[in-house]
Amino acid sequence: MAKRPTSEIANELNAVLSENGCKAYSLLSERGRRAFFPARGILGQSAEARGSAINATIGTAKEDDGSPLALDCLKGMVSVAPTAFLYAPSYGVKAFREKWAEAMKVKNPSLAGKRFSLPVATNALTHGLFLAGQMFLDDGDKLILPDLYWDNYELLFADGCGARFATFRTFSGRRFNVAGLRRKLLSAGEKKVLLLNFPNNPTGYTATDEEALAIRDAIRDAAEAGKRIVALIDDAYFGLVYEKGVHGESLFSLLTDLHENVLAVKLDGATKEDYVWGFRLGFVTFAMKGLSDAQLKALEDKAAGLVRATISSASNLAQNLLLAAYDSPDYPAEKAAKFATLERRYRVIRRLLRAHREYRESFEAMPFNSGYFMCVRPKGVDAEAVRRRLLSGYGTGVIMLCGLLRIAFSSVPTDKLEELFANIDAAIRDIKGGHK
Ligand SMILES: Cc1ncc(COP(=O)(O)O)c(C=O)c1O
Repeated sequence: MAKRPTSEIANELNAVLSENGCKAYSLLSERGRRAFFPARGILGQSAEARGSAINATIGTAKEDDGSPLALDCLKGMVSVAPTAFLYAPSYGVKAFREKWAEAMKVKNPSLAGKRFSLPVATNALTHGLFLAGQMFLDDGDKLILPDLYWDNYELLFADGCGARFATFRTFSGRRFNVAGLRRKLLSAGEKKVLLLNFPNNPTGYTATDEEALAIRDAIRDAAEAGKRIVALIDDAYFGLVYEKGVHGESLFSLLTDLHENVLAVKLDGATKEDYVWGFRLGFVTFAMKGLSDAQLKALEDKAAGLVRATISSASNLAQNLLLAAYDSPDYPAEKAAKFATLERRYRVIRRLLRAHREYRESFEAMPFNSGYFMCVRPKGVDAEAVRRRLLSGYGTGVIMLCGLLRIAFSSVPTDKLEELFANIDAAIRDIKGGHK
């Protein structure tokens, strides 16, 4: 089948993204180059008709008095304006996007004075990651990432976008392997797409302040050596950092104005930051040194076009509920209380690993300092066998991946943690003792 010609609007956006020697256009994939927001179709015509005495443009249903035609039983369940029953814009609710951008600056003080696009709302991070993959990865392109990564990246980027993974070892000793990252960035080829996720799934590791600066330097050095780099920053677990000296800001802050060859793409959202996994609300935000307002807007338009193509728009109800929550005087204290619950579990695990020296015969705890997870590497036995023994003998479920056991302490009651680790130790000893 013949390919549809690239739309006029996409061509205009592409021209904007090439202005003044800007490298953003050259980083886009074929799909990214074709992406545009269809501002002149139904949406554009509807916008032009807004305020008309008779408006027969919009595909929502209204009562004769103009209010949304919504079911009372549903209206009674949620205390948001009935307009939340209507569509949200494909870019996201403007007030919500602005609020999120403001909050990003509060959560990342070093973003002060730096320029970045207005966040575009996605159907949570999974969708944002997919959009970013569509925008920047062509079939066969390499995606540079550490070897311990969220397994859904395979569906998203390998199966979904045709990318080939170019992994480097996550750790060098007990530190983040910046040298491995640097080598991948400096390998043959000019365009590099990099994906970093801190706090990390599955390890629960976040780069220390020193490592974060070293990562920034590796990216800058590669850019100075002529590499053109897209840095995808998966901030799903942003904010859940439990130790001093661990980088509490997003790496995005370090990359926004790093170099004219570095396009930073921040994927974040309310899912874990606001404890609303089922709301499905995330954001994609762009920054690159020297981009004009029009160029930042062109990237927003392309992302919004891909939102329109995939989900049309993110949940208006969820955006309205969260906007109301952010304005609640109770929001900061309630959020801090939930953080404290997770941090308490982290501290309990640290304490029990120190107290039970005998566990070191059974497993090694991998480096962790943040997030939802930590991993252990069983010593001298197969991790999958341990996982099965934990299920059959101890009523205990953990995830096995890459020879490690991933423990989601985020979902284990604090008073069960001691038993959980004792069970892991016992299961490993069982297997060493010949138990099948
Ligand atoms: C590293 C990482 N990124 C993204 C996501 C997806 O988040 P969301 O539920 O917002 O799509 C997850 C969820 O488990 C994750 O672990």
